[in-house]
Amino acid sequence: MTQETMIKISGLTKYYGNYLAVDHIDLDIYEGEIFGLLGPNGAGKTTTLLMLTTVIKPTEGSAIIMGYDIRREPEKVREIIGMAFQEPKLYWVNTPWEILVWHAKVCGYKGKEAKEIVREVLDKLDMWDARNKRAFQLSGGMKKRVEIAKLFIQRPKVAIFDEPTSQIDVSGKHKIWGMIRELRSEGSTIILATNELYEADILSDRVGIIHKGKIAALGSPSALKDMIPGGDVLEIKVDRLVPEEIRSELEAIPEVSRVSESDGTIRLYLNRAEEILPSVVQLLVSKEIRVRSVNMREPTLNDVFLHFTGMTITEAEGRGDEWI
Ligand SMILES: Nc1ncnc2c1ncn2[C@@H]1O[C@H](COP(=O)(O)OP(=O)(O)OP(=O)(O)O)[C@@H](O)[C@H]1O
Ligand SMILES: [Mg+2]
Repeated sequence: MTQETMIKISGLTKYYGNYLAVDHIDLDIYEGEIFGLLGPNGAGKTTTLLMLTTVIKPTEGSAIIMGYDIRREPEKVREIIGMAFQEPKLYWVNTPWEILVWHAKVCGYKGKEAKEIVREVLDKLDMWDARNKRAFQLSGGMKKRVEIAKLFIQRPKVAIFDEPTSQIDVSGKHKIWGMIRELRSEGSTIILATNELYEADILSDRVGIIHKGKIAALGSPSALKDMIPGGDVLEIKVDRLVPEEIRSELEAIPEVSRVSESDGTIRLYLNRAEEILPSVVQLLVSKEIRVRSVNMREPTLNDVFLHFTGMTITEAEGRGDEWI
């Protein structure tokens, strides 16, 4: 199947003062795909998306969306594209109903139609009962739903969701994922920025891993995982730092293709994990390193992130907790 390019991003760059937030990104986004932009806090996701939607101007480079240049034809781009912002800004005395009916009218729905579509979307997002609350009375998750509802009303050719399910409960997340898939099957191209590995993995046709303003890896979730040498991951939590010489000994085992250590955990990327496990544990114990737990698993996008950036997403975000 040949895939048409919907968005062609070339050398897209943003400096805030001297700070380089987005660093010469080249990227094609195909028509009808769900493209996941996965990266830790501060990676440059929102900045990239705000440039695509013409909210902020690139310092260098540009993007062409359905033939329109974001720098030269921003009005045309705005007709094609819609974005649900990471931080919804709702006028505090308005209600979801008022906000969304107004939005539906801006999108071209007439009186009765506008009310119908708003009712349908509020219902799907479990917001019907909260439709007449004032914005200041809404919880964070509810405000976020109102913001997302705008895109499901607008149904633009290119729909951009910036961390759509942060602050949303588990059942809400599943509903929104279903609605995003539905939007795609009706013909929209979707860009989804997220720092949630699971969300990027299950929803995206392709994922671009963004780190320090650069695309560090690009491909379908399964292709990205296949790029990791060794088919299995063995995670061993230990009670102290493993000295370099022991790491080298582990690396010398023929089935092991890579050893990394972070967050008090050694990760071995290897083949035939269950056969190798006893000798690995024995080696650690013989060096008086206590094994707290062992976990054997398939690679995740966090392993992909680690492979391409040298750190886990947790470390990249400067958080101490384990997050896989
Ligand atoms: N208006 C601004 N002025 C100065 N620096 C900014 C501004 N907006 C963002 N930055 C910086 O640019 C970098 C990228 O920020 P951006 O918001 O694009 O990241 P992000 O990937 O969306 O992160 P998050 O997951 O936290 O939303 C960060 O270091 C941020 O502090
Ligand atoms: Mg952001």
